[in-house]
Amino acid sequence: MRVSDRISRVEYAIRDVMLHAREYQKTGREIMYLNIGDPVAFDFKTPDHIKRALSDALVNNNDYYTDSEGWMELRKSIVGKEKGKKGLELTPDDVLVTNGVSEGLDMVMGSIVEDGDQVLLPGPYYPPYSSYAKFYGGSIAEFGIHADGTPNLDDIRKKITPKSKAICIINPNNPTGEVFDSKSLRSIVDIAAENDLYIICDEIYDEIVFDEKFDGIGAVAKDTPVVLLNGFSKTYLMTGLRCGYVCMNSNSRQLDPLRQNIFKLARVRIASNFPVQIAANAALHGPQDHLPKMVQKLKNRRDLVYSRLNEIEGLECTKPKGAFYMFPRIDLKNKWNNDLEFVIELLNSTGVLTVHGSGFGSMGTGHFRIVYLPQEAILNKSMDKIEKFIKDKH
Ligand SMILES: Cc1ncc(COP(=O)(O)O)c(C=O)c1O
Repeated sequence: MRVSDRISRVEYAIRDVMLHAREYQKTGREIMYLNIGDPVAFDFKTPDHIKRALSDALVNNNDYYTDSEGWMELRKSIVGKEKGKKGLELTPDDVLVTNGVSEGLDMVMGSIVEDGDQVLLPGPYYPPYSSYAKFYGGSIAEFGIHADGTPNLDDIRKKITPKSKAICIINPNNPTGEVFDSKSLRSIVDIAAENDLYIICDEIYDEIVFDEKFDGIGAVAKDTPVVLLNGFSKTYLMTGLRCGYVCMNSNSRQLDPLRQNIFKLARVRIASNFPVQIAANAALHGPQDHLPKMVQKLKNRRDLVYSRLNEIEGLECTKPKGAFYMFPRIDLKNKWNNDLEFVIELLNSTGVLTVHGSGFGSMGTGHFRIVYLPQEAILNKSMDKIEKFIKDKH
């Protein structure tokens, strides 16, 4: 039977490479998973007080449907973080709690993108941004990033057309770990305001920044149509629990139609997981001491992988400032036809599973993405294998 045309536009390279991994697994050989950004699958575990809040919620029978917009206590706590600490003007009525940032992104794109619209994304970008834009009938344009990690503002201006609807920012970015400073954010906000565009900003890695202070979009949003996406998967180590949120700048009158309509989508899917919302609230109010420990551990792993990769002839990468990804450029020469071939051959020869850069958009072409969440011994072993694989290839 027929399926919709729109479903064929959806891609998710990060999980698509798993199909090749499954084939490899059948050979019984060991796989080193450097492909999925799930810290909880490695030696980063959900803090105990969050797990306790979740199990207490069940024991206390707090596992019924809650408000579609999200549990009010949690919405207030989210305002505490995003307004109180990061400066975005908000009330609880501007907050929608979702089953992960992924669902929030789906609802935002579904609420604003119409057939023929164009959405601007940083090149390279996290794939669901393109998948959802296309699923809802839109197209995407990528804007470039300068070598120093700042956005190419001229390129953004050049790519805006009468069909443009939104500029997306992923800060820190997946897959590059780039972090935009507040001057860059202010410039993008100004460009969006001049052109009546939504600004969709994903700050899911806001606490995972290594060398500098993180400035969110909230502090520069003023009265512009900033829609902030954030969640608990990464900073609170709650990937499998699925909790995120959408915040709509209170000061923006241009966001009023979205504010009035997005909650309809929330009602259609009834509510997000109530016990998990209770755990997320405990995450925001409880001890935060896992954060500096996690960031230090990740920084050590970043430094290890960065220096190992740059020692390999034929690879080159910049030092990520946040998140937990490295995005080396491959000197393909005549050895591989493209980055996908490189990644599949690397898997089949060594068991090291990474993701091809072109899966993150055309500006990712010729790169591959490494997740540096595993322990040092595994990272070193993987780097040895990558080094030998490239050296031995004729
Ligand atoms: C930039 C970005 N946004 C969103 C997500 C997914 O978030 P969630 O687990 O809250 O759906 C990821 C996961 O890798 C991500 O890298």
